[in-house]
Amino acid sequence: MTTTVLDRIGLLVTNDIAAGAGPLGLVRNASVVFEGDRIVSVAGAGQIADRRIDADGACVIPGFVDSHTHLVFAGDRGDEFAARMAGRPYEAGGIRVSVAATRGATEAELLSLADGRRAEARRAGITTVEIKSGYGLDAHHEARCLRVARSFTGDTTFLGAHVVPAEFEGRTDDYVHHVCTDMLSAALPYARWIDAFCEVGAFDEHQSRAVLAAGRAAGLGLRLHANQLGHGPGVQLAVEMGCASADHCTYLSDDDIAALAGSDTVATFLPATDFSTRQPYPDARRVIDAGATVALATNCNPGSSYTTSMSFCIALAVRDMRMTPEEALSAATVGGASALRRGDVGRIAPGCRADLVVLEAPSYTHFVYRPGVPLIRSVIEAGSLT
Ligand code: NIG
Repeated sequence: MTTTVLDRIGLLVTNDIAAGAGPLGLVRNASVVFEGDRIVSVAGAGQIADRRIDADGACVIPGFVDSHTHLVFAGDRGDEFAARMAGRPYEAGGIRVSVAATRGATEAELLSLADGRRAEARRAGITTVEIKSGYGLDAHHEARCLRVARSFTGDTTFLGAHVVPAEFEGRTDDYVHHVCTDMLSAALPYARWIDAFCEVGAFDEHQSRAVLAAGRAAGLGLRLHANQLGHGPGVQLAVEMGCASADHCTYLSDDDIAALAGSDTVATFLPATDFSTRQPYPDARRVIDAGATVALATNCNPGSSYTTSMSFCIALAVRDMRMTPEEALSAATVGGASALRRGDVGRIAPGCRADLVVLEAPSYTHFVYRPGVPLIRSVIEAGSLT
C-alpha cells in the first residue's frame, strides 16, 4: 500500500500527551506518515514516504469530530430565524415545519440535500459526524432519514422523541409508546444511538426515561438533549441512565455540574444554537473546572443552528464561554470523539484514522483571533485528500 507523508508542519496538534507538549500534545516542525486510512507515524519533519504533501509551515490539527447534527431534512426556516432576530422567542414547535417538508421530499432528494451539507462540513474541517433523525416522526419516515444518514456515518441516532407530531397532538404518552415500539423497530437496522428531547414542550423526565430504556433494551447507546431552554431534569437523567453525552447544557445548576463531573457523561455544548436562539451561553468554565469532560458540536439543523462551522463554535466558546483556545480545540476534536465513545478519531497518533486538517494559519488560536475567516486550507479524511 502507498504511504504518504504530510511534511513541514509548523505546529502539529496531536491530542496525544505522550507525543508532544501540553494538553494538546503539540509538536513543532513535524511530519505525519499515513498508509491507507491509518496514521503510521508522527515525528520531526523530513520523514520519507512514497508520496509527499507539503504543509509549508502551517498548523495541522486533527479533523473535527462533530458529535451532534441533524443533517437530514428538507425545507428552509429562514423566516423563523428572521422573526427570532426581531424578538420572537425560539420554540421547538418549528420542528413540525421541517417534519412536513422532510416527509414531502423523496429519499433521493433527502440524500442529495444531506450530501451537500456533509460536503460543506468537510470543507469546514469536519471529518467525523454524528447524524440524528427527528424530522420524520413516524416509523416509515424516521427509518428513511436514518437510512440516508447511514450513507454518511456509522454514528446515526434515532430521535423519534424530538417533538410530538401533529397527528398525536394531546396524546404524548401514546406517541412515546409508538416511539418505543414500532418506530424503534423500524429505526433499529440503521441506528447506533437513541436520543430524546427532554424539555418543557417536548418530553418530560418520565417519557424521556422510557425512550432511553427502550433504546438500551434494543442495544442502542444513549444520548440526551438536556437543559437547552431552561433548567430541568435532563442532565441528571442523562447521568443516571449512563448516556454518552448530555447535549446543550445551557442551563446548569450546581447539582447538574457535580453530576456531570462525577460521571462518564460528556457535556456537549452547542454554542451556535445559543447564538441563533438568543439564549445565554453555557457556563463552560465551571463545568471544566469541576472536572467534567466536554465537547463542542455544531448542532447543524434548520431551526436552531443552521451552520456547519466548527470554527465559529470554537470562537464563541472562547469569546463567550470562557474556554481557552486549547480547551475549545480539544472539545471540538477529542472531546467529540469521547461523546461518541470513539478512540480512533480526534487524535493524530499511530493507529488512528488519518483525519488531518491543514490550516491557513500558523496556529489554532487564529480560529478566535480571525473570526469568520475561512482558515481551512485542506482536509485529509481517512487518508484521502478531499
Ligand atoms: O438540538 N432541540 C431540539 N432539536 C434541535 C432543534 C431542531 C429544530 O428547531 O428544528 C436542537 O436545537
